[in-house]
Amino acid sequence: MMMDHAAELPRPLRAIPGGRPLSGRIRVPGDKSISHRALMFGALAEGRTRISGLLEGEDVLRTAAAMRALGAEVVRGDPGEWQVHGQGRGHLREPADVIDMGNSGTAARLICGILASHPIFAVLTGDASLRGRPMKRVTDPLSACGARFTGRAGGRLPLAIEGAASPKPLNYRLPVASAQVKSAVLLAGLNADGETRVEEPEATRDHTENMLRHFGADVSVESLEENGGNGRLIRLRGRPALTGADVVVPGDPSSAAFPLVAALLVPGSEVTIAGVGLNPLRTGLFATLLEMGADLRVSGERTEGGEPVGDLTVRHEALQAVEVSRARAPSMIDEFPVLAVAAAFARGTSRFRGLSELRVKESDRLAATAALLAVNGIGVEIEGDDLIVHGTGGAAPPGGGTVLTHMDHRIAMSALVLGLGTRAPVTVDDSGFVDTSFPGFADLMRGLGANLTPA
Ligand code: S3P
Repeated sequence: MMMDHAAELPRPLRAIPGGRPLSGRIRVPGDKSISHRALMFGALAEGRTRISGLLEGEDVLRTAAAMRALGAEVVRGDPGEWQVHGQGRGHLREPADVIDMGNSGTAARLICGILASHPIFAVLTGDASLRGRPMKRVTDPLSACGARFTGRAGGRLPLAIEGAASPKPLNYRLPVASAQVKSAVLLAGLNADGETRVEEPEATRDHTENMLRHFGADVSVESLEENGGNGRLIRLRGRPALTGADVVVPGDPSSAAFPLVAALLVPGSEVTIAGVGLNPLRTGLFATLLEMGADLRVSGERTEGGEPVGDLTVRHEALQAVEVSRARAPSMIDEFPVLAVAAAFARGTSRFRGLSELRVKESDRLAATAALLAVNGIGVEIEGDDLIVHGTGGAAPPGGGTVLTHMDHRIAMSALVLGLGTRAPVTVDDSGFVDTSFPGFADLMRGLGANLTPA
């Protein structure tokens, strides 16, 4: 069921420290990025797409509803098992009503790409968080294919889109490291004649490239040897025959991050998280935690549905402060709030560089992360685009604060993880948005031994 949490009573939740160690073997819900794409590409392909392990969080359910509004048949079977029957690229139906993308920036931006090269009219909106997020980063490049976008000031939602009748292929260099922008441009290119090219100065998650190939598109990726970085040039041949395919969705590494850091912080804990996606463009957090001295092991490494997957086992361990370079940020862009929580317990001062993109997430996540630490008595500073966290070095941080989540699921979960290891409880003003990416989070954590109670 999809909820508009703004229209509901807030659901405050409190983490009580000092309970028993966390222990158990769990799975986390399916990867959000891969789930959105599986539904979208299924709708653009001809024939049947079978998805297993789909994340049934509100963000992804919005994408399912949007694909139905565009003419695809989208059917849920057993939990996580979904089928999509697409009409084929180029054959989307004009939606009869405004499409509401809820809290999901990924859904809104990728769908802009799809709509830009289909000759239909559509209007997208979202909740108050999404209506505040920048869309020009996609509408500017997509306009060059011939689509027209009319939105509120700053190109914000609600946004009216008239897709191009004869879409031109795009040739675009990303000004920001964003997989959403890259994906929007590539998706527009699917229905344009000729080659679409995207240059990214820093590599970002490549699920779009991998999955488009899996559905039959011709996508090539070259590394860009510039400034010693890890940039890439991606080329897509327009108007491929896309054929329905089977997609197995791995556990979301961005969701695994929460129980993982919780187990690191609570003395005596040992937790295994099975079937976590280990795409190297998503594992920056794991590399960083290892540098901090975390007792974190990967076993059972395998490939499932074209993505590397493994089981993570983590034990409580004292952590050292760490510096994270700007170059690593894209591979862990959603994990900085919970990394900041880990850093609050570490010995020494940590610095995370180049976090400007955090300002345009579900909240201003740079400010919200700093505030979540500060209100709980942890030393924190923002210097330019860097976040600096002064760790308590083994002694539990004070806690006792109430964290404002600003409609941001990851701020809520990070604050609750913090409160499992502080001296006093930590409260979040509203845990409702957790359901956008991690339905069942509180129950899963309770099953490990965490004490989370309604406040
Ligand atoms: C996503 C890309 C990231 C990430 C978001 C999911 C995706 O956003 O923060 O949660 O699925 O492409 P940006 O590409 O804007 O950094």
